[in-house]
Amino acid sequence: MRKSVFTLTLIAAAMGLTACGKKEEAPAPAPAAPAAAPAPAVLVGLAIPETHVERWVGDAEYMKKDLEAMGYKVDVAFADADQSKQNKQIEDMVTKGAKAIVVGSVTEAAAQAVESAKKAGVQVISYDRLITGTDAYDYYLTFDNFKVGQLQGQAIKDALALDTAKGKNITLFAGSPTDNNARFFFDGAMDVLKPFVTSGALKICGPAPTNSADATWSKITTEGWAADKAKARMETLLSGACKSVKLDAVLAPNDTLARSIIGALEQDGKYKTLPVITGQDGELLSAKWIMEGKQTMTVFKDTRVLAKGTAEAVDSIIKGAAEPTLTVKARVDTTTYNTGKKVVKSFLLEPVAVNKDNLTKELVDSGFYTADAVAKGTK
Ligand code: BGC
Repeated sequence: MRKSVFTLTLIAAAMGLTACGKKEEAPAPAPAAPAAAPAPAVLVGLAIPETHVERWVGDAEYMKKDLEAMGYKVDVAFADADQSKQNKQIEDMVTKGAKAIVVGSVTEAAAQAVESAKKAGVQVISYDRLITGTDAYDYYLTFDNFKVGQLQGQAIKDALALDTAKGKNITLFAGSPTDNNARFFFDGAMDVLKPFVTSGALKICGPAPTNSADATWSKITTEGWAADKAKARMETLLSGACKSVKLDAVLAPNDTLARSIIGALEQDGKYKTLPVITGQDGELLSAKWIMEGKQTMTVFKDTRVLAKGTAEAVDSIIKGAAEPTLTVKARVDTTTYNTGKKVVKSFLLEPVAVNKDNLTKELVDSGFYTADAVAKGTK
């Protein structure tokens, strides 16, 4: 035992000597500090209102991709046009630590969730639809919604040659009364059409509001932008108020509703040639129907651009910029969009009217759809 202790001591001494002998050499490099763990990606929530209208799936997809490319982690939730469901989704995003939430709301009741998000220090951006009834957020990105309606009205005016025509018949549809946009679309369309209603060149069959503030506006709205509701209403008009007239046009606020209205007209059998029918969103099946002459037009809103601008706005506000900096082309509007609690600074993108003549240019050449998908009406 003693011996072995002695031996060990010798070995230790020898090692010490060796160490001393090395003293002159360059010190061994300090062991590399353990690589700093990358900061966890900041979470951004996308609260998207619904999927029964095709565009929203794209909105979510484009924004997710853009935000991920900027290094964010993205949580997407679709609300199935149910505001209480969306409010839970927003609360959930706040709990998970989202720093910003992009909200395409369903109804004004979104305000509650937006206000609690704000209290928790989360910034909200109103997306496409104005969140009304609150001042708990600062920015809104959308398309020029009044212009969307004007483009629809203009298409009807041109197709029916209203400047010279007399006694043309139209029936009116509007979007969901819970969606602030629906009023803008309708008022934009009537901005163009009302003078012809007044002059008698255009006659309205069924309820005849000429402004969304008119009491009869609620009679032409389509709760939840539901296609079956629009179809049922068109059937009722065809067998009732519009039975004895030949409709020359139908003001339809978007493609989903336009197609269901076309379905009712086809089912009715009276129309060998369909009336002029407007739309919005540039949905794939509507694009096919426009090429076939079943639907007259759509309003294309390039949601790739809206998504990109929104991702840029999110990035700006998360980084604490005084104002969002966007590279996409948007008109800043500080007067139009009033939530009832404040006028929100809005960034408006330009919508484009699309008919048979420019559909390929706008929807195919721009890379939004392939020519094959348009021909099939599906991806
Ligand atoms: C959007 C339209 C869409 C509609 C139904 C509106 O708020 O702006 O693009 O067709 O909602 O989802």
